[in-house]
Amino acid sequence: MTTSFLNLASARRTIYALGKNVKISNQEIETIIKDAVRFAPSAFNNQTVRAVLLFNKRHDELWDIVVDCLGATITGVEAKQKFLSKIGAFKAAYGTILYFTDSSIVKQYEQQYPPYASNFRDWSEQAQGNANYAVWLALHESGIGASLQHYNPVIDDAVRKAYNIPENWTLRAQMPFGSIEASAGDKTFIADSERFMVLS
Ligand SMILES: Cc1cc2nc3c(=O)[nH]c(=O)nc-3n(C[C@H](O)[C@H](O)[C@H](O)COP(=O)(O)O)c2cc1C
Repeated sequence: MTTSFLNLASARRTIYALGKNVKISNQEIETIIKDAVRFAPSAFNNQTVRAVLLFNKRHDELWDIVVDCLGATITGVEAKQKFLSKIGAFKAAYGTILYFTDSSIVKQYEQQYPPYASNFRDWSEQAQGNANYAVWLALHESGIGASLQHYNPVIDDAVRKAYNIPENWTLRAQMPFGSIEASAGDKTFIADSERFMVLS
């Protein structure tokens, strides 16, 4: 059996070869991203995920920040070239979404619900996963590819300064997106017997 959702889920992939040949407007992209984040579930509906959408120069700026923050730590000509070409590919994308967790909401729920206090951090990460995946799928459905990157926490301070990010927002992921210039390679899956138990 297949469904339109499962077709979409199997078609969504990590796309590294991203370009600027995007067919929908920034306004449409913004709506897709905002709705996907808005409708994604979170524990207690506490809505801890925050997102910053970067287009044009603000998108370029992010990948320049990554080079500035990490470039100096990479030694060796070959490794440096590899790093620069990897970051260059992200910069060649159309835009980037920065995902944050509002840590003040996490703290507030920890204080408000002591029996669950130890769960709220994990749950905020799960809410991140839900939002990241929902956006990834929704963009793919509109013909836009994406990947999920994690240059935090190395870039946190520079990002906070460059984009005037509130103190209580903690950077969790970066998602470059754009036209799909080359498809992803094959993907392997572990055996169902390792992954599932079906009991009746
Ligand atoms: C929580 C999480 C963290 C990830 N972090 C990175 C990352 O930092 N850099 C990267 O290139 N891909 C990252 N990925 C992408 C995975 O490597 C990728 O989803 C996985 O290999 C499966 O491939 P697919 O996305 O094409 O299905 C991450 C994915 C998840 C779900």
